[in-house]
Amino acid sequence: MAGLKHILAIDQGTTSTRAIVFDAETRAVATAQSEFTQHYPRPGWVEHDPEDIWRDTLATARQALAESGVDAAGIAGIGITNQRETVVVWDRATGAPIHNAIVWQDRRTADLCARLKQEGHEAAVRAKTGLLLDPYFSATKLAWILDHVDGARDRADRGELAFGTIDSFLLWRLTGGTVHATDVTNAGRTLLYDIHAQRWDEALCALFDVPMGLLPEVHDNSHIFGHTAEGLFDAAIPIAGIAGDQQAALFGQACFEAGMVKSTYGTGCFMLLNTGEEAVESGHRLLTTPAYRLNGTMTYALEGSIFIAGAAVKWLRDGIGVITHARETNDMATQVPDSHGVYMVPAFVGLGAPHWDPDARGAIFGLTLGSTQAHLARAALEAVGYQTMDLADAMVADGGDPPATIRVDGGMAANDWLCQFLADMLQVAVERPRHLETTALGAAFHAGLATGVWADLDALAATWVRGDCFEPKMDAESRATLAAGWHAALAKTLTGTG
Ligand code: G3P
Repeated sequence: MAGLKHILAIDQGTTSTRAIVFDAETRAVATAQSEFTQHYPRPGWVEHDPEDIWRDTLATARQALAESGVDAAGIAGIGITNQRETVVVWDRATGAPIHNAIVWQDRRTADLCARLKQEGHEAAVRAKTGLLLDPYFSATKLAWILDHVDGARDRADRGELAFGTIDSFLLWRLTGGTVHATDVTNAGRTLLYDIHAQRWDEALCALFDVPMGLLPEVHDNSHIFGHTAEGLFDAAIPIAGIAGDQQAALFGQACFEAGMVKSTYGTGCFMLLNTGEEAVESGHRLLTTPAYRLNGTMTYALEGSIFIAGAAVKWLRDGIGVITHARETNDMATQVPDSHGVYMVPAFVGLGAPHWDPDARGAIFGLTLGSTQAHLARAALEAVGYQTMDLADAMVADGGDPPATIRVDGGMAANDWLCQFLADMLQVAVERPRHLETTALGAAFHAGLATGVWADLDALAATWVRGDCFEPKMDAESRATLAAGWHAALAKTLTGTG
């Protein structure tokens, strides 16, 4: 392993799976990507076939390796990053999932969460996990599978089943069924992990009716989790880093100091503020979450989670055919001077932070005969900006200083119009790094630290290069008018169940 300078990063996201080979200068030497099928069996339900995910992971990893010209023996390690909270339960003997993966966006357990909230459990759950009682997180989805798949509870009690978030499932498959483990950032999203004591919590497992024997071992993010099984690649490669995708993006953006903020625009938008070794409790319904743990020392973050960002643009394309390609929204938004009074509240799967309203549904307000496709596209992008503004306000209300800058990344961050709108609404400089693939890079950083490709955080921070910077330009009155219009639309959408 010594002397090797390339890392293979696997980024298993909500709608696509990507594999990237990075060199020690953080150049993406080769990239392979594959979109996979989303299943919506009922309104509010979202599932993935874990076999699709495994097939695409292996195929993209092999393709990226082949295109990089680096053979498996030349790869120092694999870093895995993944859509968080999504639940897979599989048979330990065969590795076969017993049900489709239930995706983080799925709302089927909203009633159970409401009941637990009514019974007064939220404060205790929050104190240990930093999370809230919302169907977003893994525990209630895991219990749902155990309760709805024939014989699953008995099999779980007999120790025949394993639970994992997507990282864990991929690790199991990559190691030929020999390693059942995860990292602190993924464990910290399950509602079963005490983020302060840093262990699975017996009382939480009892509350959610989850047998502890199903749970994976939890490790630091930079750690040799295992090696790829024979036959997968030409040589065994160490799996040397794992992190949930939003925490990986924070790491890939080199936000290593307390007070640094990143916001990632993928399917959803997730803004994370590094709070150092202190787990800051939010008074404004943000999440407290592990950011990374290195050599046993935990760094925490405050997180604002918005469920729909890029997914609104995908809906414009796939749901109602207003655009044929996501990048058109940049030009459409600039074609019109404003949204013509149109506001979109993209509560397609309820609303996350700071509202946590699982029953809210998407709505478009202010339509007139003058409304056009361009106004709709602009309203969809503006909604992403408004929601980010609400998160930033909640972070400041929680006692944080207004951030000096915000580092953005993810596919939608390529949209200049959106970046300018973010700078205007948040009144802060928006910095876009040269490499937008910071999620995959974060996973590569973790694997590279464990295998000696990079020595320490300083070496990683030195690789961060700013691309464009967007400074606020909008006058205060226009900003206030837009924000008021958004908050009025939002108020009409909230159901009050959050
Ligand atoms: O918590 C869900 C998040 O991890 C999904 O990320 O990149 O698929 O929007 P993404």
